Amino acid sequence: MEIILEPDISAEEYMDFREGAGWAKIKPERVKALLKNTAFLVRAKADGKTVGIARSLFDFGYTAYIADVIVKPEFQGKGIGRLMIEYLLSKIKENSAADDFLMINLLAAPGKSGFYEKFGFEKRTEETGWGMCIKLNGK
Ligand SMILES: CC(C)(COP(=O)(O)OP(=O)(O)OC[C@H]1O[C@@H](n2cnc3c(N)ncnc32)[C@H](O)[C@@H]1OP(=O)(O)O)[C@@H](O)C(=O)NCCC(=O)NCCS
Repeated sequence: MEIILEPDISAEEYMDFREGAGWAKIKPERVKALLKNTAFLVRAKADGKTVGIARSLFDFGYTAYIADVIVKPEFQGKGIGRLMIEYLLSKIKENSAADDFLMINLLAAPGKSGFYEKFGFEKRTEETGWGMCIKLNGK
């Protein structure tokens, strides 16, 4: 199976993947805005069909956020998530100097922290400072 990465995600794909993952719904007009304002988009295709999406926000300074990493269930466990994370990490690094301090953040869904640990992400603790978030009007 050949996997091709493309630097784009359509609004329809984004909503379809979110729905498939059972994540909170985002209004179509907000989807267009969030895709437009994302630094790096990636979709993975197999036989012309989109089988994975991921994206990263980046301030082109020192901090980035990886979000919405989703592989279609029947294509999970085939290295597609890895390809997309490696792509996003390389785009962030490409847009930074080799000696720049970078802090790349994400929220791991339940049971997924082991996936991100493969790339060097570490769980934060009280000692290193918890990651925190607030959700408004959603689950
Ligand atoms: C999490 C997800 C993106 C992983 O994608 P994937 O294509 O199945 O992962 P890969 O096949 O590329 O796995 C890469 C490596 O991570 C490991 N891995 C994958 N999922 C893992 C998990 N949940 N826990 C621990 N390790 C995991 C694989 O074993 C593989 O290890 P290896 O390279 O040493 O062989 C995918 O399971 C998914 O889309 N889940 C549903 C949506 C979701 O929860 N997204 C994460 C939001 S934070």
